[in-house]
Amino acid sequence: MSNPIEQKKITTHTLLEMKRAHEPISMITAYDFSMAKIVDAAGIDVILVGDSASNVMAGHETTLPITLDQMIYHAASVLRAVKRSLVVVDLPFGSYQGNSKEALNSAIKIMKETGAHAVKLEGGLEVKEAIARILSAGVPVMGHLGLTPQSIYKFGTYVVRAKEEAEAQRLREDAHLLEELGCFSIVLEKIPAQLAKEVSSGLKIPTIGIGAGNGCDGQVLVLHDMLGINKDFNPRFLRRYMNLFDDIQDATKRYIADVKSKDFPNEQEQY
Ligand code: KIV
Repeated sequence: MSNPIEQKKITTHTLLEMKRAHEPISMITAYDFSMAKIVDAAGIDVILVGDSASNVMAGHETTLPITLDQMIYHAASVLRAVKRSLVVVDLPFGSYQGNSKEALNSAIKIMKETGAHAVKLEGGLEVKEAIARILSAGVPVMGHLGLTPQSIYKFGTYVVRAKEEAEAQRLREDAHLLEELGCFSIVLEKIPAQLAKEVSSGLKIPTIGIGAGNGCDGQVLVLHDMLGINKDFNPRFLRRYMNLFDDIQDATKRYIADVKSKDFPNEQEQY
């Protein structure tokens, strides 16, 4: 078996081939050079510079406050580290909903100033023109349906979306619309597993799920949640692979103790 880390660069076409070959797609968020370097070297297929940076990097309650320039700062840092993964950057709230010209300008600014490979934006029919215009400039677009956190004040809560048939039907239609427009992939967030499976099997383009069950073509998690850096967020869909909050806190306490006791630095650690 070939070593995934030595495989060639992942492109949007690779993801389509992976779907055809029934090979699950792995995606994770990253927002800075050091973390991006680690997850790229680990062999992750897609890195999402998500607007969840607003929560996990900046400490905001929602994804709404993060600006286009702040997303560009994070994305450029990630791109400097990445050798193999496909890097997708979120268009932040307010940078594409106004009109399609503004959406195109935002996408072009991201592509020019960061070296990103694609952009992601939230919504279906309501952002159709924006998606079409960005795609017409040759910029690959990933869609995002289901729970779309930029609309949190419309939803009022972060509960599972599309449980009712009317919303499920709208999601099915939006998914097909995004495929017809030319999106290369769609994130499905927090929807019933059965619906995600049905939508995924009806599309040629891959779906990437978060809280959408095992029937999606790939999975994404927020890096800080998956590593246990953030202890306060415990949704059912999250699998934690580490408890870094505790590990980092413990290491910091030991360092403080060593400084206070004059144990650090010792003779080997000085000049
Ligand atoms: O911003 C983000 O991290 C996302 C994922 C949750 C898909 O959009």
